[in-house]
Amino acid sequence: MTTNVMYGKNIVGDIENALSLCAMVVTDENVARLYPELSKNAFIIPAGEKSKNQQTLFSILETMGARGLKRTDKIAALGGGVVGDVVGLAASLYMRGIAWVVIPTTLLAMVDSCIGGKTAIDYGGVKNLIGTFHAPESVIISYHFLETLYEEDWLCGYGEMIKTCLLTEKSYSMLIDNLDNIIAYDRDAVYALIEKCIEIKQAVVDADPKENGLRKNLNIGHTVGHALEAADGYKSTHGEYVLKGIMTECAMCKDIIDKDFYNQIISICKRFVTPPRTSTKSVKERALHDKKNEGDMITIMLPTAAGEVSNVRIAQSDFIERYDGAIKELKKV
Ligand SMILES: NC(=O)c1ccc[n+]([C@@H]2O[C@H](COP(=O)([O-])OP(=O)(O)OC[C@H]3O[C@@H](n4cnc5c(N)ncnc54)[C@H](O)[C@@H]3O)[C@@H](O)[C@H]2O)c1
Repeated sequence: MTTNVMYGKNIVGDIENALSLCAMVVTDENVARLYPELSKNAFIIPAGEKSKNQQTLFSILETMGARGLKRTDKIAALGGGVVGDVVGLAASLYMRGIAWVVIPTTLLAMVDSCIGGKTAIDYGGVKNLIGTFHAPESVIISYHFLETLYEEDWLCGYGEMIKTCLLTEKSYSMLIDNLDNIIAYDRDAVYALIEKCIEIKQAVVDADPKENGLRKNLNIGHTVGHALEAADGYKSTHGEYVLKGIMTECAMCKDIIDKDFYNQIISICKRFVTPPRTSTKSVKERALHDKKNEGDMITIMLPTAAGEVSNVRIAQSDFIERYDGAIKELKKV
């Protein structure tokens, strides 16, 4: 299902209209504090990844029931990727699925999580273990929300933005041309790249909504990234782990990547994050649970040149050796 996406620099009027058509709005405590007018009567959940759990999910479902939502009603997610993921899951479960609308308020949610209908909570120490595919009916992106973001949440969004820009030659060259601009938070460069990322992600999920093939390419950096994130107890933001994941996975498979492209990717990632220090054992244990794995092999989606991604399957023993080698390599580069 193609989601209707609307964006603009400040389209609060459109957001208010959309929210007025929803039977319930869910947001987090930070967004509620920063945007009280949009959060009136909203159900407020605690902020951050720790909220992506079964307690939050069931508190939303119980409130939907208590407020008498019907199958024809809509629910809105006003917030970052965490609010979107858990509200989307609640929407997909309530009465076997009701419509939902997303108003992303972080850079990460604008460039990535608002598109494609992946919903989830974390469970048993595994990131996104419980989830569904349930595309939102519409997405309304208003760039003015970026003005209140903390620096770490900009960095977080840059992680997924860089990942998506690796997917086509055009977006990759756009990223290279605008790297200094986005590091300087140049709004026009950021808006242009957000729109490019949405265009790419929408095209990918339209072609492969259930991640049977092409959509796996969106998982660049995510096998190691998710493993690092869970092993570190979610200390840094998701996007930072994605960038650490991209640089580590590339270093693990350096032998099959175009040399100039490899050097460029490592230097891009290093402008934003430092290489990981997490132990090989804990990363391997988490990587074993990755949803892309088949049999005993650990799967990595590897950018091998601008716009090219390979599905690389690595045996567990080889994974350990390559991860150790990558950590040493990244210290040198
Ligand atoms: N479903 C998908 O396709 C998909 C894709 C990528 C990431 N994700 C998920 O998204 C989550 C990360 O999303 P996130 O980085 O948006 O995290 P988040 O939702 O936790 O937001 C980060 C922080 O920013 C605050 N915030 C939100 N909007 C704000 C604003 N306008 N101004 C100031 N502060 C604001 C939040 O309260 C929170 O403290 C992860 O759980 C990740 O797994 C999902």
